[in-house]
Amino acid sequence: MKVLPEFRLARVALLLVGLAALCLFALPAGLAQAAGTHPEFSRSTHAAAGLTCTSCHLPPADGGDKGLLKDKQITLCETCHAQVPEAFALASHHPVAEGKVQCSDCHNVHAAALPSGPAATAARNQSCIKCHAEAGGPFKFEHPAVKAQGCTACHEPHGSKNAKLLIRANVNQICMFCHTMATNFTAPGVPQFHNQSKNPQPCTSCHAEVHGSNTSKIFLK
Ligand code: HEC
Ligand code: HEC
Ligand code: HEC
Ligand code: HEC
Ligand code: HEC
Ligand code: HEC
Ligand code: HEC
Repeated sequence: MKVLPEFRLARVALLLVGLAALCLFALPAGLAQAAGTHPEFSRSTHAAAGLTCTSCHLPPADGGDKGLLKDKQITLCETCHAQVPEAFALASHHPVAEGKVQCSDCHNVHAAALPSGPAATAARNQSCIKCHAEAGGPFKFEHPAVKAQGCTACHEPHGSKNAKLLIRANVNQICMFCHTMATNFTAPGVPQFHNQSKNPQPCTSCHAEVHGSNTSKIFLK
């Protein structure tokens, strides 16, 4: 069968484009190949800040698809994020320095680093729930704060001087940020023990199942 010359030319051109592309990507062979698995990198905060694959990875020596990290992950991240270790040094913290949790357990370093907005709350919660299933539900009686505002409405993700990574030393202040009713103890129907002006107990001493409950709609034990 006779092939039209124009068609042959086009094929040669295509081949040349292909070869050029191959040369461009052949240098960090493994990483370029792997870039296909990280197409979202170009839209990431890291890419926007001018980082490339080799800011974090060594070029793979064996042509494999996983370039080793230049350094231990925590050292690598903290070289650029010098303010981060401060939080992890606080009394209550995720054991990253201890080697039990990694930055990349919560952060997708290859994608838009921090999703935001209500649609992203579920995704952010999911990054916590994969290790803390007991807080994630589903529960018969959900606490809307967990689903709508997310874990970080009450917890610091890195570290806190307060127990259980809470954002306030006094747990009642966290609750009353949303439940203003509890300060108004004279309101009809609000039990006297919600009075915050006389030795209030921690809300969680009664509402212990604060993430949600299958038995009590007010999250009692
Ligand atoms: C900000 C640092 C950083 C940059 C930039 C970066 N990576 Fe990564 N990469 C990591 C970390 C951290 C891991 C997780 C390593 C581990 O689990 O031990 C990783 C893991 C990987 C893996 C293993 C599979 C996976 O997804 O976990 C591949 C493949 C990879 N990176 C390719 C790339 C490519 C290709 C680029 C550029 C498009 C890139 N990386 C840019 C930090 C980075
Ligand atoms: C070569 C320097 C460098 C390295 C290494 C690096 N980062 Fe970054 N990172 C940046 C820069 C620059 C930005 C964008 C400016 C900023 O927010 O500080 C950024 C942004 C981020 C953000 C988003 C911050 C925001 O407010 O949106 C997160 C989260 C993050 N990096 C986590 C990591 C983690 C986890 C690692 C280790 C796997 C890492 N980075 C390694 C330089 C680096
Ligand atoms: C337990 C999950 C978790 C771990 C582990 C974690 N982060 Fe984060 N990090 C978060 C969340 C969630 C935020 C967003 C905080 C917010 O928006 O209030 C954040 C915020 C950040 C930011 C944005 C600036 C800031 O400080 O708020 C940077 C940078 C960052 N993390 C880097 C790191 C590095 C580096 C490590 C490892 C040393 C790490 N993170 C480990 C969950 C985590
Ligand atoms: C890779 C697994 C992992 C991920 C992901 C993770 N955690 Fe943790 N978390 C831990 C470990 C391990 C501890 C320390 C447990 C201990 O010391 O008993 C911890 C401790 C905590 C504590 C304190 C518990 C206590 O009794 O003092 C809270 C609260 C917490 N995490 C919330 C979160 C939130 C919120 C997120 C998401 C931003 C998250 N965690 C993501 C593993 C994880
Ligand atoms: C409305 C505030 C609030 C929200 C939202 C919230 N927590 Fe908590 N969480 C608390 C309080 C308060 C405690 C401490 C309970 C206590 O001391 O009895 C706690 C304790 C914890 C603990 C320690 C174990 C325990 O049960 O004592 C973990 C782990 C935890 N939370 C994870 C999460 C995760 C993951 C999310 C998101 C899915 C989340 N929390 C959302 C308030 C909250
Ligand atoms: C970010 C806001 C927010 C925070 C913080 C918060 N809550 Fe809630 N909570 C809500 C919302 C919204 C509802 C659902 C109210 C409704 O349906 O009328 C709710 C429901 C409840 C209920 C069930 C009773 C009812 O009216 O449905 C209890 C009990 C409760 N919260 C206790 C607490 C305690 C204890 C804390 C502190 C550990 C806390 N909440 C922190 C938003 C919050
Ligand atoms: C001594 C135990 C105890 C303490 C402490 C406590 N509560 Fe309650 N709470 C209850 C009981 C019991 C009810 C149900 C009262 C009823 O139905 O008459 C209730 C009801 C509620 C309700 C639902 C009110 C309604 O209208 O349905 C909310 C919200 C609430 N508490 C929040 C809080 C907050 C916030 C704190 C801390 C400032 C707190 N509670 C401290 C035991 C307690």
